[in-house]
Amino acid sequence: MSRTQVAIIGAGPSGLLLSQLLHTCGIDSVVLERRARAYVEARIRAGLLESGTVALLNQAGVGARMMREGLVHDGVELAFDGRTHRIDLKALTGQQMMVYGQTEIQKDLADAHAAAGGRVLWQAEEVAIHDFDGHTPRVSYRHAGARQQIECDFIAGCDGYHGVTRASVPAGRITLHERVYPFGWLGVLADVAPVADELVYVNHARGFSLCSMRSMNRSRYYLQCPLDDSLDSWPDARFWDELRARLPEKYAARLVTGASIEKSIAPLRSFVAEPLRFGRLFLVGDAAHIVPPTGAKGLNLALADVGVLHQALVEHYRAGSETLLSEYSARALARVWKATRFSWWFTTLMHRFSADTFAYRLQLAELEYIAQSEAAACAFAQNYVGLRPPH
Ligand code: FAD
Ligand code: DHB
Repeated sequence: MSRTQVAIIGAGPSGLLLSQLLHTCGIDSVVLERRARAYVEARIRAGLLESGTVALLNQAGVGARMMREGLVHDGVELAFDGRTHRIDLKALTGQQMMVYGQTEIQKDLADAHAAAGGRVLWQAEEVAIHDFDGHTPRVSYRHAGARQQIECDFIAGCDGYHGVTRASVPAGRITLHERVYPFGWLGVLADVAPVADELVYVNHARGFSLCSMRSMNRSRYYLQCPLDDSLDSWPDARFWDELRARLPEKYAARLVTGASIEKSIAPLRSFVAEPLRFGRLFLVGDAAHIVPPTGAKGLNLALADVGVLHQALVEHYRAGSETLLSEYSARALARVWKATRFSWWFTTLMHRFSADTFAYRLQLAELEYIAQSEAAACAFAQNYVGLRPPH
């Protein structure tokens, strides 16, 4: 049986960042990942980072390429009823957002981790966690055909929504809060110039759409679509026509179309597990919570959890203190619930839930209020750039 200080399940952004941060503080960890490295790096997901996330990636020493290649945005646009309104995030909050794809973060983390001699067991099968309530937790798995075990001080469950760690907690000790939404997001990535310099969130009677980007020549667009739609029913030409139909005129005229290089449909869900600590097991990122993508909070929340857990583990190993470890769950959840509220609210404000004209008119009234009131715009901006930690 081998040994490490922290066994990390999952090599997504949460698991790799935690391992890298711990490494910079001299704390040993092993990461066990079910998939191959190439598979994990090919998943197209988030693309918008809060300044706190940028700072954390820099603290871990993995931010150099992001600082060179990422796009800094000072504002964001809301489009509704044929008009647009810009929210000046920088003027209202002093903060900016960074456009830099999760795929790039994933590569930067894996490269830095490998260069530092970090251990990731890619394609680890049948991962199971044991005795996390006792003093010597263990992780068992099959790797390269052999069954193996690692003993550790702590287990970090960074294994996403479908992972094994949350599922290993006895049902009576965990509370799960969930809301599913009656539509999905159809996403397209294409090597074409974006319609605007900043992101545009569109409320339209035909359904929500979002104009985002990965660079000035790679666009990421999303359309609200029925949950049961299949990709076969969305050839590129139909996607571009539908997007054009939902955009305000000035952007519809500027839309550059091209072959999609990725196309996918994602369901929307809000989900929070409580608490996030069970003895020596900590749930982190998507293993603990999911938000609908509107507002781009998922990755930012996941990495914020990592920051809180990292601080707690460092305090434990340096000072022998349990204080921050015992506060992990409450500190992480304080941020999680606020972002869960914002993502739910922004989703509700921007999507078509039914043919109900009353609900649609209320959405337009609220969007007009945000456009008129600096207080309302400020509340939006504070949530969008990410709320500061409570303590
Ligand atoms: P994950 O990235 O899910 O990583 C978990 C890892 O654990 C995976 O590599 C998985 O293979 C591994 N794993 C799972 N089970 C096991 C096991 N039993 N044993 C070992 N390893 C295991 N967020 C945004 O902010 N904006 C977006 O636009 C956006 N779009 C998204 C689109 C999709 C389709 C999805 C699924 C998510 C999206 N998100 C978005 C959310 C964002 O990508 C996640 O919040 C982020 O990936 C969370 O990181 P994580 O490391 O906690 O979990
Ligand atoms: C992206 C996704 C989001 O959900 C969002 O609110 C902003 C940007 C993106 O993938 O670029």
